[in-house]
Amino acid sequence: MTNTATFTEPQPTPLALLLLGQTADPATEKGVACPGALPVASDPTLVERARRARAALGDRAYILGHHYQRDEVIQFADVTGDSFKLAQMAAANPTAEYIVFCGVHFMAESADILTSDSQQVVLPDLAAGCSMADMAEIGQVEDAWDRFVELGLDEGTIPVTYMNSTAAIKAFTGRNGGTICTSSNARQSLEWAFEQGERVFFLPDQHLGRNTAVLELGLSLDDCVLFDPHKPGGGLTDEQFRAAKVVLWRGHCSVHGRFSEAVVDEARERIPGVNILVHPECRHEVVKKADYVGSTEYIIRRLDAAEPGSAWAIGTELNLVRRLANAHPDKQVTFLDRSVCYCSTMNRIDLPHLVWALENLAAGNVVNRIVVDVDTERWARVALDRMLALPGVGAARTPD
Ligand code: 13P
Ligand code: SF4
Repeated sequence: MTNTATFTEPQPTPLALLLLGQTADPATEKGVACPGALPVASDPTLVERARRARAALGDRAYILGHHYQRDEVIQFADVTGDSFKLAQMAAANPTAEYIVFCGVHFMAESADILTSDSQQVVLPDLAAGCSMADMAEIGQVEDAWDRFVELGLDEGTIPVTYMNSTAAIKAFTGRNGGTICTSSNARQSLEWAFEQGERVFFLPDQHLGRNTAVLELGLSLDDCVLFDPHKPGGGLTDEQFRAAKVVLWRGHCSVHGRFSEAVVDEARERIPGVNILVHPECRHEVVKKADYVGSTEYIIRRLDAAEPGSAWAIGTELNLVRRLANAHPDKQVTFLDRSVCYCSTMNRIDLPHLVWALENLAAGNVVNRIVVDVDTERWARVALDRMLALPGVGAARTPD
């Protein structure tokens, strides 16, 4: 049920990818066959089946749910959170046999790295990837690092890798003295990195890197250069490498990249006194125009703390924004974009996949297990542990 008092549903766009959940799009999503029968979405007993399987599993299973998950799935999560909180929660539960990750592949990999060998991490749909994580491949990253080495810059350059990356790139980061970060601790990660060296290699989200370096650490836009893995040498001269304080990987989130300066201006015109609240994966120009910026957990806390009657236009994934509108009928909550903006891969985890995974686990069949190999896990864990040990994480910027 949607809060019809204040929330206006954005209009679907003609792009089928954005309509997952309403229609399938076999041309753009690879789809993964599930062994055994996947329940049909129209099965009226799905909720009951999920409840029964969940109850049968008891403490043997622990279900983690990212804030972008659908309502039909998030209702079964034992804990919900942003990427950082979910990593912490996975690490803090040493007893559950099965960690069922309702999120995307890189989060499930991180949970496997942070849990013990006897615990098994399950991703209900293996096609739940992340288009940003796919923009950096380990071979490309190693080639990029070779350039730092050739120029003699590797010693003073600290890799800072966003959680939204493969385990192999996290391991590269650990091996080369770097840390992982999430949107809730990017500032602390960069500050830590600049205590270790004079330059940061930030990947794969150029926007989070630039927003944090410029808006939180006070660096200039000119201190940041963009490394394009599809250009020879990243498209940068030796001099640009040497002069840069932050070398940003050319990656972005296709969901948050949709928000533009124009929609911020429109929201301000349409809604007097509106507060613009966005995720730091949005483009720099958008974040600069916003009133508040932070991780999904921060966005939720900001709304919880807001005055009744206040107006909010939120620039992040639509499942979360709609849920916030429903949770705050005393506030005017609108979606910042003009049209539908789901994360299609987060949406891959639906009730049929969850039921399928839970029923299989309850029957003793471990399906869709995510396993990171031992060497990758060892070094990725070094980088993840550096992040978990950072002081004072969880804060977010509130502009003047
Ligand atoms: P957070 O929930 O950590 O803010 O990240 C958002 C996101 O894009 C996860 O993929
Ligand atoms: Fe990846 Fe963007 Fe989806 Fe997050 S919202 S999982 S960064 S595509």
